[in-house]
Parts: sequence; C-alpha cells; structure tokens
Amino acid sequence: MNLTDLEKINTGFGNMADEYDSMQDTNIPVKKMRKKFYKTVESFVKPPASLLELNCGTGIDAFYFANAGYNVTATDISDKMLMNARSKGTLKNLSFEKLNLTELNKAAGKYDLVISNLGGLNCLNDLSKLSRNVSELLNPKGFFIVSVMPQFCLWEFALIFKGEFKRALRRLKRDGVIANMGGEKIFVRYYSPKKFYNYFKNNFHLRKTTGLCIFAPPQPASHWYQKHPSITKFLDSIDDKIESFFFSSFIGDYYIAVLQKV
Ligand SMILES: C[S@@+](CC[C@H](N)C(=O)[O-])C[C@H]1O[C@@H](n2cnc3c(N)ncnc32)[C@H](O)[C@@H]1O
Repeated sequence: MNLTDLEKINTGFGNMADEYDSMQDTNIPVKKMRKKFYKTVESFVKPPASLLELNCGTGIDAFYFANAGYNVTATDISDKMLMNARSKGTLKNLSFEKLNLTELNKAAGKYDLVISNLGGLNCLNDLSKLSRNVSELLNPKGFFIVSVMPQFCLWEFALIFKGEFKRALRRLKRDGVIANMGGEKIFVRYYSPKKFYNYFKNNFHLRKTTGLCIFAPPQPASHWYQKHPSITKFLDSIDDKIESFFFSSFIGDYYIAVLQKV
C-alpha cells in the first residue's frame, strides 16, 4: 500500500465520517450484524480483557466494548473518523490511536483480543503480514475476531436478474476491485472464508464462522424491512438457524470468523 492509497483511504473514509453514525443507526441489517458480532465476541472473551480494535471508524464498537468493561485501544487510519470517535467522550478504559493495518508491528502492548468489524480488512490486498503481526500482538491463546465480506453474496448476485451485471459479479474478481468510498477510488478485495483462513492457518485455529445476511436483506436492501416485514422476519429466522453452517459464510453479505492463536 503506497502513500497515495493511504491518502485516498484517509480522505475517502474521512468524507463519510460525519454521516457514518446516522447511516448506521437507521440501517437494520447493520444493527443486526453488530449485535451478532458483539454476542460472538462476548461468548469467547469476557471483560475486563484487553482489546485492540483495528479499523474502528467512528468508535461505535469501541464505546460498546469499553462500556461493557473491556480495556479498549481502538485504532484507524482516518484522521476524521478518529476525530469523530474522540469527540464522543472519554472513558478511562478507552483510548484511540492512529494505526495503519499494514503497520501493526508499530502497535505497542499485548492483547487478549484483537477485533476488526465490518470489512476494514477487505481494504487489504494481502493478509500475510497482518496475520503475523496480529499473532505477535496477542497473548497466548488470544483471539482474533473479525467480520469480513466474502467473495460471493447471494443478494448481490441476484442483481443479475435486474441487469446489473457489474455489481452482481464484482466480488468474484480475484484481484479485487476499485470502489467509490466518499468520492475516492479505494481498493477492495473479497475473501472467501477458505481464502481468508489460508492466511492465518499457521498462527491460528479457526474456532467458528457465522454467516451474516445470508437470505435476509443486506445493508443496501435495508428498505425491505419496512416494505416487507413478514418476509424479512421469515428470512431472518432462516438465517438464525443456518448461520453457523460453514457454507453460510460463503454466501452472505459478511461472515464473522473467530480465530484463536495456536
Ligand atoms: C467500513 S468502515 C468500518 C468501521 C468500523 N469498524 C465499524 O464497524 O463501524 C472501514 C474503516 O476501515 C478503515 N481503514 C481502511 N483501511 C485502513 C488501513 N489500511 N488502516 C487502518 N484503517 C483502515 C477506514 O478508515 C474505515 O474507518
């Protein structure tokens, strides 16, 4: 990742920072995904564990986990995202730092848990260095819990029937795509759970995967929850039943992966 790419990430995500929380607050699929992420984290690691958050954005999860009693160091590359996060208040067990995902070797300390939520890792082209760095940052048997966008999403693929071929097929591009984020062209690569775990298998055990928004509508289709409440309720209930099947993580909008340091 060169300087220009970093500047684009800083500017692009920075341009989205002021609207970020209100967009998240009104989006039902995002709220459901966060709830499942929190439940997963809390079932594997209890407070007052030390937690390093990668790509924390405006600090929504950082405040959640700090309020739940974890000792949180939350990091991001975007100055504006960090500025907005810090402006939300101070907690004695929460701090924010600027940190690039590709330079995690610069992070200080050891942690019981490292997290990355909602696709920050999809901004990376290669996860080998990240795998080594996260392992070094973790205490023995520590956890790395992430949510990542897979290489195939049923809902997105269905756009083919609306003639939106480019959007329907973009995730399948092996070398990633360029996406518009806050007016900047930013690299995004989609990782199937298998491809993702290949980067981590030398340092981690895969303890669990959970598919998110498998049959239930993903973020861009949030309006379905208002338009078709009984259908979405039914689809949600199917998701709840099948989310832990390994295949579910290959076809949803995101998946949660729980990795434990060997
Ligand atoms: C979609 S947002 C997710 C934010 C947050 N995790 C959440 O759940 O709301 C992605 C975040 O990843 C950050 N990011 C992207 N590339 C990064 C990098 N190389 N180093 C650190 N943060 C990065 C962006 O600045 C942005 O805040």
